[in-house]
Amino acid sequence: MSNYHIKHLEEYYQVYRKSIRNPEVFWEEIAEEHFLWRKRWDKVLSWDFSKPEVKWFEGAQLNITENCIDRHLATRGDKTAIIFEPNDPKEASQHITYGQLYEKVNQFANVLKSKGVRKGDRVCIYLPMIPELAISVLACARIGAIHSVVFAGFSSTALATRINDCDCKMVITSDGSYRGSKTIDLKGIVDEALNDCPGVESVLVAKRINSDINMKDGRDYWLQPLLDAASKELKAEVMNAEDPLFILYTSGSTGKPKGMVHSTAGYMVYTAYTFKNVFQYREEDVYWCTADIGWITGHSYIVYGPLANGATTVMFEGVPSYPDFSRFWQIVEKHKVNQFYTAPTAIRALAKEGVGHIEKSDLSSLKVLGTVGEPINEEAWHWYDDNIGKKKSPIVDTWWQTETGGIMISPIPFATPTKPTYATLPFPGIQPALMDENGNEINGNSVEGRLCVKFPWPSMARTIWGNHQRYKDTYFSAFENKYFTGDGALRDEVGYYRITGRVDDVIIVSGHNLGTAPIEDAINEHPAVAESAIVGFPHDIKGNALYGYVILRETGESRKHENLRKEINQIITEQVGPIAKLDKIQFVPGLPKTRSGKIMRRILRKIASKDTSNLGDTSTLLNPEVVQEIMDKAL
Ligand code: PRX
Repeated sequence: MSNYHIKHLEEYYQVYRKSIRNPEVFWEEIAEEHFLWRKRWDKVLSWDFSKPEVKWFEGAQLNITENCIDRHLATRGDKTAIIFEPNDPKEASQHITYGQLYEKVNQFANVLKSKGVRKGDRVCIYLPMIPELAISVLACARIGAIHSVVFAGFSSTALATRINDCDCKMVITSDGSYRGSKTIDLKGIVDEALNDCPGVESVLVAKRINSDINMKDGRDYWLQPLLDAASKELKAEVMNAEDPLFILYTSGSTGKPKGMVHSTAGYMVYTAYTFKNVFQYREEDVYWCTADIGWITGHSYIVYGPLANGATTVMFEGVPSYPDFSRFWQIVEKHKVNQFYTAPTAIRALAKEGVGHIEKSDLSSLKVLGTVGEPINEEAWHWYDDNIGKKKSPIVDTWWQTETGGIMISPIPFATPTKPTYATLPFPGIQPALMDENGNEINGNSVEGRLCVKFPWPSMARTIWGNHQRYKDTYFSAFENKYFTGDGALRDEVGYYRITGRVDDVIIVSGHNLGTAPIEDAINEHPAVAESAIVGFPHDIKGNALYGYVILRETGESRKHENLRKEINQIITEQVGPIAKLDKIQFVPGLPKTRSGKIMRRILRKIASKDTSNLGDTSTLLNPEVVQEIMDKAL
């Protein structure tokens, strides 16, 4: 018998030990008993982190949509798979059953095929959180096309980069999107992006806001008439275990975004298994994750993980503040949500608005609360526990990454005693290691180091699209024979993990990963700018905000500085997206650099955080005098 559903702490330790002693047997049992395979695997695992190459369930064949939809039809055909909650509370919500989802996915998949999309082709999905987003993701998977969802808050330049990087032949979008009281012209953004994307042959457009948009003849098609004419039946493509399922871009500390490639079987097994246990999902439960499907959290824990378990998953189109800050809690009451999964930045924003917004709603359905995306501070953790969970719903602080595909370190609710700000214990199958700066593993408890993983797990990304060398350099070169996460962590006296934050040049702003390099590149495009450096500094709501140090070509009058600040943020919005705008911009005469010309960001971070009592070793600086000048005028 596999240990698919863990219920007690003792059971966790027992299962964990088994998963470490004999990972192949452990994962094989889970794969065998809980999923639908067209053909069994020949080998559970082969791996070599020096290449790096990892294969799970080699030789097996399957289609993930048969696991997420078809196999539920006999017993759950009339059960709600997806609850769609629109931006405007006055608009009716939609309940899509597993039976309906089957038909909708098949229709969509037939449309993709009719437009020439074939197994292995890449399809870019740039949609708001409407049902078509989940359906188009599944439709791609059904025919073996590789989906690349781009969060619909990214700019046209960012979209074009992602479309071109993996040669998408199709884009799926909508005429526009609702976001609180605003509407966004998504199709206009796509049109602009496509000026630079010669490989895109067709664009499917969902109607959402009924705006008057430009439709290019022979390229753009309204989706609905095509769906109406399409068959509701389609045999799913048979996929190999290691065939890519999707590409999802994440920011790196340098250069262009990294297209993380996830494969089919391992991803399915791991996301389903973690979903079941981290949320303790039971058959009648309603589960809601507030993330956008444009991020990994939405892929793994709105779409694939929940549906593979036959769950009911909520998709919310709007924002926590519209029409007011009680919206989340009204939705919890309306759909009797049992598991609620959100980000620390949302919790902090809601906490700031006071408890008045909560008191109007009945939150008694809640059983488990989750958080993800960045370290949660103690205050936010307690606010969540006291006011939302009423101290009765355990908080699962889930640590993981786009690259890991699924949750890696997290309490198992009702089993693992929680501890504020701690992600607690590794999931079965996950072997974390803390490393010191000399590359040695730090053993024992009450220690701190760089967080690595020393054994493969099924849902790890297999490569970076088109650049395996970069995959190796970024994740497998810092520490020999280990996957390096880029995070720092500590392990307390009982072995609980606490993630302390990034140790590289990635800054997490409101739960979004932002690499410093693309933002600096954008700033440097301003004709008045000679050079720039970005660092993060603590922010009450966003966790981190961005502080830019900018050297101008000519030191102009200060009254021009305000305009320049606006223009710089405008360029960032165009090139990267509004989430990357700088909160503070300081014009500086120079940047602290080492003799080899590297910017010493450590010092800039301290100045931005107003923590200048001890700047550390500055003896290697080429231009130490500039530090004082920057400090004197810090914002
Ligand atoms: O720094 C860690 C932080 O988010 C990074 C991964 O970001 P992304 O790939 O966008 O995926 C976010 C959703 C899985 C990690 O390297 N992070 C994520 N979860 C936590 C966290 N930091 C602290 N605690 C967490 N629970």
